[in-house]
Amino acid sequence: MKKDYNQPPLKTVQGTHREIALFSTKGENINEEVVQSFGDEWVKFHDFSDETIHRIAQEYFDIVDDSIVNKQTYALDIGCGTGRWTKYLTQKVGFMEAIDPSHAIFAADKLLGNIDNVRLTQASVETIPFEDETFDFAMSVGVLHHIPDTQQAMKDCVRKVKKGGHFYCYLYHNLETRGWWFKTLFWLSDQIRKVVCRLPAGLKRVVCDILAVLIYMPLVLWVRFLVLIGLRKVAKKMPLAAYNDKSFFVIRNDALDKFGTKLEQRFSKAQVIQMMENCGLKDVKVSPRSPFYHAIGRKV
Ligand SMILES: C[S@@+](CC[C@H](N)C(=O)[O-])C[C@H]1O[C@@H](n2cnc3c(N)ncnc32)[C@H](O)[C@@H]1O
Repeated sequence: MKKDYNQPPLKTVQGTHREIALFSTKGENINEEVVQSFGDEWVKFHDFSDETIHRIAQEYFDIVDDSIVNKQTYALDIGCGTGRWTKYLTQKVGFMEAIDPSHAIFAADKLLGNIDNVRLTQASVETIPFEDETFDFAMSVGVLHHIPDTQQAMKDCVRKVKKGGHFYCYLYHNLETRGWWFKTLFWLSDQIRKVVCRLPAGLKRVVCDILAVLIYMPLVLWVRFLVLIGLRKVAKKMPLAAYNDKSFFVIRNDALDKFGTKLEQRFSKAQVIQMMENCGLKDVKVSPRSPFYHAIGRKV
């Protein structure tokens, strides 16, 4: 099932648990500052427990069933970061390739430990070192909206999927279904992001921890209070409602993810479907549940 690379790597280095091949990550469709920032982020936040991964994965992969990923599946995770979703899927698939252009690939090596049906590779969407139409399943979770030309990046991913295989992605939604006050809150937080993302790495981490306490926690505690007094439906409509059952570790990580990144793009549901169809995917299904929007399509 595991295929050879279609070109030799620049070099191979020894990680904590496995050898990692490094390919060029240079290209036109990559934001190097964003990649550097994610590398720093994942080196700090990689210690996800299996319980946390499993619980959050139920939300991300609600639209991926056993007919799509099973022990016959050769899978690719593009922009794997710490490899938390790679780790989840190694239990379900035959073999998994995980790539990321940042030094997070070494954090992924630590998180994946001695799992043996996975290979880690440093590469970007433009330099995926496998022939086209190699994979039964490819995914890109929270990655393509951080790449300058999201549509082109998606095409580069889908090229690697076999006909009849599936492509899954999670892209930030543009709040199209939310009210004006929700959009205003988002606009305000986006102004903060535009300042915070320019800070040096260490200071950025400290500021994002403070934002986790001052912005995330009050809203999350309000949501928890509403749930406690039985107003679950009202709670679900509140900003950051998805963090109701998340740990402070996950909240700090997401604060750094949201406020620390220079480039993020947002899409409507119709745009997500259109972009996926433009890549030759059919039967595109967008989950009606959070996180918005995660979607899957079949390559024809
Ligand atoms: C928000 S993180 C998501 C990581 C992981 N998929 C997850 O959900 O935990 C975005 C990841 O995309 C990677 N990335 C950024 N630009 C990329 C590119 N041009 N090609 C592939 N990956 C890229 C970053 O290095 C980073 O690890």
